[in-house]
Amino acid sequence: MGYPIHRPRRLRRTETLRCMVRETRVDIDDLIYPLFVTHGEGVKKEIESMPGNYHFSVDTLVEELGEVEALGIPAVMLFGIPKSKDAHGSEAYDPEGIIQEAVSAAKSAHPGLCVITDVCLCEYTDHGHCGVVKDGEIENDPTLALLAKTAVSHVRAGADMVAPSDMMDGRVAAIRSALDREGFEQFPIMSYAAKYASAFYGPFRAAAQSTPQFGDRRSYQMDPSNQREVLREVQLDIDEGADIVMVKPALAYLDVIRLVRDTFPVPVAAYNVSGEFAMVKGAAQRGWVDEKGIVIELLTGIKRAGADLILTYFAKDMAAWIKEGTV
Ligand code: PBG
Repeated sequence: MGYPIHRPRRLRRTETLRCMVRETRVDIDDLIYPLFVTHGEGVKKEIESMPGNYHFSVDTLVEELGEVEALGIPAVMLFGIPKSKDAHGSEAYDPEGIIQEAVSAAKSAHPGLCVITDVCLCEYTDHGHCGVVKDGEIENDPTLALLAKTAVSHVRAGADMVAPSDMMDGRVAAIRSALDREGFEQFPIMSYAAKYASAFYGPFRAAAQSTPQFGDRRSYQMDPSNQREVLREVQLDIDEGADIVMVKPALAYLDVIRLVRDTFPVPVAAYNVSGEFAMVKGAAQRGWVDEKGIVIELLTGIKRAGADLILTYFAKDMAAWIKEGTV
């Protein structure tokens, strides 16, 4: 049953044949582009740890979203840099906070774009943790009300979907019932369901000024050694009402993406995070790797592992390459 009857190379002979039997393709529709928004006007300041990414003020963000939409990218994920931080992260749920303003401007200029907001407190708290702190502990239950309030304020401002990234227990249920109470029962939740305590978030934390001021996030984010625990985390989020579940980071967790895809009947998103972006970018800038080739291979790998949606800082590049037909 082997050679010479079978010759796998026959189907690799021409580009047309290779295209015909290609199993995995990243579509522009799979992409979600993360963006950072800050106070001020006319601001477009490059983020040092993430070349090609910027802190945008609301006006320049709206312009940028025009480019994103023209490329056919269906969705963005917004992160806010507040004016000031405090113990309870109050700008996170301020109706006039940075995200609320950005969302409402974004939706009035680009109603067709799906605007997703990251729901978390760490960018807004002075201690940099994703929840309320008492006696050095990150308190779970008192945090839930603040997250729910944040999510409601985002949807009130016009967000199409909310994405809790805090990893508190019970936050999806708290957000779901708060949204439903407000009449937002049609608005989906994409939960960061399997979010690991990862060193790959470094460049993002520099960009969002959200590094914890004491300790680390290991009492709420998952241990990178664990896979079985994912089944529990994802099941809980689905039971609590998550519509899409996310695995984060992506590249060191391709097995987790595959496990979630094979186990649960909901769409799976994977977050190709800042450290993964920075590694590629840094090596490419030194001429050590071919950026385009590497990006296409990595995003295809994430999709092949089972992701339906990919959050990536390479979304614009990838969309442009798909559009021009060079992927
Ligand atoms: C907020 C949040 C983080 C990221 C997304 N949402 C940082 C963290 O958990 O420390 C990281 C995204 C990235 O690295 O690209 N909790």
